Amino acid sequence: MLGDVIDLLVCPVCRHDLGLDAGAVRCPRGHSFDVARQGYLNLLSTPVKGDTPEMVGARETFLTKGWFAPIADKVASFAHGVIGDAGAGTGYYLAHAVKERGLALDVSKHALKKAARAHPRIGAVAADVWKPLPVRDAALDTLLNVFAPRNASEFRRVLKPTGTLITVTPNPDHLEPVVERFGLLTVGDEKARRLADTLGDHFARDVTEPVAGWLDLTATEVMSVIAMGPSAWHARAERVGEGARVRMSVQVTVWRPKS
Ligand SMILES: C[S@@+](CC[C@H](N)C(=O)[O-])C[C@H]1O[C@@H](n2cnc3c(N)ncnc32)[C@H](O)[C@@H]1O
Repeated sequence: MLGDVIDLLVCPVCRHDLGLDAGAVRCPRGHSFDVARQGYLNLLSTPVKGDTPEMVGARETFLTKGWFAPIADKVASFAHGVIGDAGAGTGYYLAHAVKERGLALDVSKHALKKAARAHPRIGAVAADVWKPLPVRDAALDTLLNVFAPRNASEFRRVLKPTGTLITVTPNPDHLEPVVERFGLLTVGDEKARRLADTLGDHFARDVTEPVAGWLDLTATEVMSVIAMGPSAWHARAERVGEGARVRMSVQVTVWRPKS
């Protein structure tokens, strides 16, 4: 719940502390922010386009089947202490990893509604990773970043010097043959190098572990995989006539903050 994470947050306008009082969130300078009926806090100054209700619904349907549980288990095995998740989506990975308390950050209110309910000690907050995060310096022991955009300098700032950044990135064969058959976005072979380029100024790579396997998906599950992506693909999802054997192939990487 929001009360579990309010001490980790700062006002996005003036960077002072935030307090939760009678269901409202305010800073001492008088800036106030809405807590949605569904339990998430909106700290976005302007709305940002994130995952749509259809994408979030498809993602939740797919993830609750447990097909990506080996990825969630691997991520959880590296996580410790107070955990944030940048681009948390429905909160699936954060809920698996959380031990003390967890902070789900995303721009999609549809995703945040789910994340706010994913675990009793998760607080869900609307925040844009491309802006200064409304999170205190060195507030987090662990930060997750799973198939989501990343902002290296902000990730470094909100992590303790002893903290851990955990990224999950797809390999070029992830979700084949669905990616090729339905013309979804492909993952370039350059992805690993680009990840190192993006994070390398602020983080040193510690370990990378692959998580891979074959998933025997029903036609409905294949449709969910397609519909988890941008809505232009939804029409293609309706053309799925049968199940498929689909590849899961990702890298889970642990990064240490550089001093
Ligand atoms: C591919 S989904 C992954 C969600 C989740 N990590 C998972 O794997 O289930 C990417 C997520 O990043 C969010 N997102 C996109 N742009 C963002 C931004 N600028 N700041 C924060 N979140 C963003 C989307 O709304 C979406 O929930």
